[in-house]
Amino acid sequence: MRVINHPILEQIPDNKKITLYVDGKIIEALEGDTIASALLAYGKKICRYTSKRHAPRGVFCAIGRCSDCLMTVDGIPNIRTCMTPVKNGMQIKTQQGNGIWEGLNEKR
Ligand code: FES
Repeated sequence: MRVINHPILEQIPDNKKITLYVDGKIIEALEGDTIASALLAYGKKICRYTSKRHAPRGVFCAIGRCSDCLMTVDGIPNIRTCMTPVKNGMQIKTQQGNGIWEGLNEKR
């Protein structure tokens, strides 16, 4: 769900569509979105699960202060998705616990 006509900002521009990969699914986002806003528009509310109780967490403050929106983005864990703009082709994963750096254990 997206706001098309905002009472203060008025008409929201129709930005270019881009593609994201979220937990293996392809979703559309708009240039100018943050990762979190694109996921909320898609209907995905859970960004991560806590390390001890495996409790779901999603966007809470939306200003980069709480860390509830952390996700693994392009193999890098603990990215604050409410503060990170989307880029075409991003690989985004729901983070489990503290997350892991992907690709570090690959043999060279
Ligand atoms: S929602 Fe709080 S840091 Fe992103």
